[in-house]
Amino acid sequence: MDFGFTEEHQMIKDAARDFARQELLPGIIERDEKGIFPAEQIKKMGELGFLGMMVDPKYGGGGMDTISYVLAMEEISKVDSAAAVVMSVNNSLVCWGLEKYGTEEQKQKYLVPLATGEVIGAFCLSEPEAGSDATKQRTTAIDKGDHYLLNGTKNWITNGSTAQYYIVIAHTHPEKGHNGINAFIVEKGTPGFEIGPHENKMGMRSSDTHSLMFTDVKVPKENRIGDDGFGFKFAMKILAGGRIGIASQALGIAQGALDRAIQYAKERKAFGKPIAYHQAIAFKLADMETEVEAARLLVYKAAWTKDQHKDINHASALAKYKAAETAMKVTTEAVQIFGGYGYVKEYHVERLMREAKLTQIYEGTSEIQQIVISRGLLK
Ligand code: CAA
Repeated sequence: MDFGFTEEHQMIKDAARDFARQELLPGIIERDEKGIFPAEQIKKMGELGFLGMMVDPKYGGGGMDTISYVLAMEEISKVDSAAAVVMSVNNSLVCWGLEKYGTEEQKQKYLVPLATGEVIGAFCLSEPEAGSDATKQRTTAIDKGDHYLLNGTKNWITNGSTAQYYIVIAHTHPEKGHNGINAFIVEKGTPGFEIGPHENKMGMRSSDTHSLMFTDVKVPKENRIGDDGFGFKFAMKILAGGRIGIASQALGIAQGALDRAIQYAKERKAFGKPIAYHQAIAFKLADMETEVEAARLLVYKAAWTKDQHKDINHASALAKYKAAETAMKVTTEAVQIFGGYGYVKEYHVERLMREAKLTQIYEGTSEIQQIVISRGLLK
């Protein structure tokens, strides 16, 4: 077993870390408070190749492996998880889905601008009444010959107003259950496609989350992804990959909080010495480090599994479950170590704690990961 990085991996990690510190850290408290989307920063991330990292260069991507991607995600997430989720959705859910299952025409038309960061994409599965139980889609896409007619509402859509292209999951034959579901590419601006108000979230407040409404939206036949009825399996496969991105985001949040807690504990004095040298704090730091390192190994293993073209379902669920739970625990402990300072915005750890919470919820809650893991064990 080799736990080392290649020179290229190290370069990508360093580039992402420098970008996060220089471009994302300034202004982050204000962006978070006011819910301002980091538009300029996302544009630069596209120019630097962070939005289509794993896509084949012939479609405008970086041609990198998943290890490179999780290293970059971790570094960006240490600083700004709102920017990281834009990156994760675009890379894992949208670009990967199109590259793996799209037609050549779909790749040329949609994947190329998405991979180069010229535009960003969104993945639209969740609905007001279908979140964890993803087969219960109420959105319908009825076959009208040369097009589908799309009707319904999607909820909690990341990049909801800033995306140009949307992968939308809908029922074409509700009577067939999950075998009657399809995935479609829908362009912003198509008549009947409306974007709801910005969600006022607890954390990752500057990421762009909206509900979307579709009323008699005409979707060309050639915009269906994969064979008729492939949509549910498409969504499940893509989410299994996406969960590696969110796992690396959670890992970055946890590591970011741990780094800040260590620094603070070395500087802050109480009872005649830095608090880091009181066992009450030292033991906390040791536990935090142990959890983060365990999560890291599962995240890297999931990324490696994907790079080996093996089944990622189990590995990605393990990684996301462990990393999200770790992020929540570690950020909560970081706030505790900071005491009163941890509860105010200037020290960042309260923001990291709010961000950690979302990693336990989106792209499948922790409980969904437990279902995937246990089903894998029992089948
Ligand atoms: N890969 C391929 N096929 C899969 C699969 C996978 N990972 N998981 C399931 N399937 C297949 C099954 O084999 C089965 O196929 P057959 O009928 O041919 O046997 C079919 O799909 C149905 O599978 P299940 O019976 O297991 O389906 P289920 O209804 O019990 O649901 C679930 C399984 C894991 C709970 C699933 O519903 C799920 O993952 N739910 C969570 C959805 C989710 O993550 N939502 C997040 C929204 S996206 C988001 O947050 C993006 C964002 O903006 C940040």
